Amino acid sequence: MTRNPIIVALDLESADKARALIERLAGRVNFYKIGMELYAGAGVAFVRELIDEGKEVFLDLKLYDIPETVRRATVQVARTGVRFLTVHAVGSVMRAAVEGRGDSGLQLLGVTVLTSFGPEDLEDLGATQTIPELVEHRARKAVSLGIDGIVASPLEAAALRQALGPKPILITPGVRSHGAAWGDQKRVATPAEAMRDGADYLVIGRQITCAPDPAAEAARILDEIGAAWLSA
Ligand code: C5P
Repeated sequence: MTRNPIIVALDLESADKARALIERLAGRVNFYKIGMELYAGAGVAFVRELIDEGKEVFLDLKLYDIPETVRRATVQVARTGVRFLTVHAVGSVMRAAVEGRGDSGLQLLGVTVLTSFGPEDLEDLGATQTIPELVEHRARKAVSLGIDGIVASPLEAAALRQALGPKPILITPGVRSHGAAWGDQKRVATPAEAMRDGADYLVIGRQITCAPDPAAEAARILDEIGAAWLSA
């Protein structure tokens, strides 16, 4: 394996807590996801701090607004040197984000249907398709509009890889090794299964962040993936 596919979700409230975790992961993980909580708590200054230290940042803001607002926000994110930014996979939102990132190195990821959505939420959207149909429809549209990748449940990864071909980046949260606590995740696969099904990156939070030794846990997951690849 040449590339470390682990992105650790910094689901923490402050920069201090995030720094302490990152320090414990030094040498094992270099890619971090900052979501709304930490962004609201520590702001873009912390994003810049990580980038200045040579770390890669996935900014999970799931932008969803009028096109001009999305475009302007994306321009600002692109200036920071962030590697991945999420936007909802809705046509006007995605077009605006693609325009905003221009020729920067920022890669855009589409969020198709939130995995927390159930039948009532779909009804509120007025959607007549099933969730898998809607996921595939939005993912295809995302790629056709120039979005670089899709955030997907590991249970959708194989179907999406088949539908989209080899190029789009597939990122899967919701992975757990055998024996790890599921927390509030309902539909999980192991890291090795997700990679086998076509994921390029795995977003992992609590299995690593709540482990007694986060670096050892990350190493264990990398071993698991490597071993699974060898036996595939
Ligand atoms: O702790 P855990 O590994 O469950 O964390 C998963 C991370 O991935 C969290 O930051 C969560 O917000 C994010 N995520 C997810 N499921 C999705 C999309 C994002 O769990 N469908």
